[in-house]
Amino acid sequence: MSDIAISTDAPSQPPSSLAHEVARRRTFAIISHPDAGKTTLTEKLLLFGGAINLAGQVKAKGERRTTRSDWMKIERDRGISVVTSVMTFEFEGLVFNLLDTPGHEDFSEDTYRTLTAVDSAVMVIDAAKGIEARTRKLFEVCRLRDIPIITFINKMDRESRDTFDILDEIEKTLALDTTPMTWPVGRGRDFLGTYDVLTGGVRLLEGGGAKTGAAEQIAIEDLGKRNPNLDVAAVKEELELATEACKPFDLEAFREGHLTPVYFGSALRNFGVGDLLQGLGRYAPPPRAQDSNLRKVEADEPKMSAFVFKIQANMDPNHRDRIAFARLCSGKLTRGMKAKLVRTGKNMSLSAPQFFFAQDRSVADEAFAGDVVGIPNHGTLRIGDTLTEGEDVTFVGVPSFAPEIVRRVRLGDAMKAKKLKEALQQMSEEGVVQVFRPRDGAPALVGVVGPLQLDVLKARLDAEYQLPVDFEVSEFQLARWISAEDRKKLDTFITTNNSSIADDVDGDPVYLAKNEFYLGYTRDRAEGIVFSEIKDVKKVA
Ligand code: G4P
Repeated sequence: MSDIAISTDAPSQPPSSLAHEVARRRTFAIISHPDAGKTTLTEKLLLFGGAINLAGQVKAKGERRTTRSDWMKIERDRGISVVTSVMTFEFEGLVFNLLDTPGHEDFSEDTYRTLTAVDSAVMVIDAAKGIEARTRKLFEVCRLRDIPIITFINKMDRESRDTFDILDEIEKTLALDTTPMTWPVGRGRDFLGTYDVLTGGVRLLEGGGAKTGAAEQIAIEDLGKRNPNLDVAAVKEELELATEACKPFDLEAFREGHLTPVYFGSALRNFGVGDLLQGLGRYAPPPRAQDSNLRKVEADEPKMSAFVFKIQANMDPNHRDRIAFARLCSGKLTRGMKAKLVRTGKNMSLSAPQFFFAQDRSVADEAFAGDVVGIPNHGTLRIGDTLTEGEDVTFVGVPSFAPEIVRRVRLGDAMKAKKLKEALQQMSEEGVVQVFRPRDGAPALVGVVGPLQLDVLKARLDAEYQLPVDFEVSEFQLARWISAEDRKKLDTFITTNNSSIADDVDGDPVYLAKNEFYLGYTRDRAEGIVFSEIKDVKKVA
């Protein structure tokens, strides 16, 4: 175990200075496959942060949910949250911003985009299931940004897979080194607690194990006295093996995204959550420098800068407003300040920035780099927009992701085609769906990664533009951005495949394929053409 001189306390800058505020922030998301325990873990993290009255409301169900949030009919009808929320809590002098990543039916591109606004992520894995499809996908998005990952192996109170097997699976399928920070003692019904690799004691599931702190730990030798059935020698042997076999924790490798510290626990039993939170505070990075088209912007620079990673429309039916969720990259935002929208060069007044907590919101008087604020606007702000105090920098890359579902939009009234074109342009700028315009003049296609996005599009086209539409299954199922070093090659490819080429919202060419087979067939024969699943706007000079 390497010696890490990091304090969980707020760093030593003068209190309330910008550097101090920035250094004590940890902005993170939880990535997991549905049902691994993300919601339960979120609630328990909030409990640790003292937000006790709010824990339990994270996934309010049924009636309670309907009365709390009724901004949109589909949300009411389906009883799910379409709203990305930010949960802020304090623990041991640090400010944690937990950005919610919609995961079940509400999985969408917003889930991916949220990951561009965090500095680290907690990967929750069901101990019986290991790495599942969605986790893997979200992990890949994190890897694009070299986001450090802390792993929480959940549901240790139930039958689980062999611990070495799970670690091996993480290493092999994600190409990520692992360092267990705790180690389970017993499994399933015999799960007693976890061994703390750093301190060498065992924290018991029963009897105060929920909290952190050395006081609750007991020595392995004493375990046998409390649990006569326990084979202490076997436990010791496994721990020795684990210590020998596993790599020591390496902060740099973790921060670069090559190694993940692993914690074991049970979110439901509130066990291991404190260890995880302490780990986050200790190892997860404070707000990182962000790439822009001109330079790296450091978080503790005095001037405010931010980028928009999500737009939420009509959150409140009484206001019919749009909220742009912006991640602050540097400096301090103060209510009432003017900010420059770099894309248009115009100033806008940040007169009512807001903080969100689950479904609630409040006015933000000030916020610091690492924080996320909601900025009400009437369509001025788009996904990927940069706000600054005057400098013409643009943050790079809120990426677009190849859709998993492609549909053709069918409009009842052909006279309204122009209006539909404008509406779709607006919707794609807001990130509701992606729009692809076939070069052969066929009606537009829309692409999404989660089916709910189509429902949102339909509801909004109807409510805001009086455009009732339907979606048809298209002959195309897949879309890939195409590029080539040799411009001529790209032009030739486009001409040859004209009926399968479309333009995205920025006019970039996209190849449409009927299925994987066709895509593979074309790709094999298109020498020099790159087919990308992710459009990442890298404009670093
Ligand atoms: P998600 O947000 O990742 O989809 O998962 P969620 O927290 O909703 O958990 C999924 C199910 O797993 C829930 O049960 C939850 O109680 C259970 N669960 C979460 N953590 C643990 C754990 O550490 N141990 C055990 N044994 N179970 C856990 P459910 O019955 O599907 O939902 P609910 O009706 O209890 O909410």
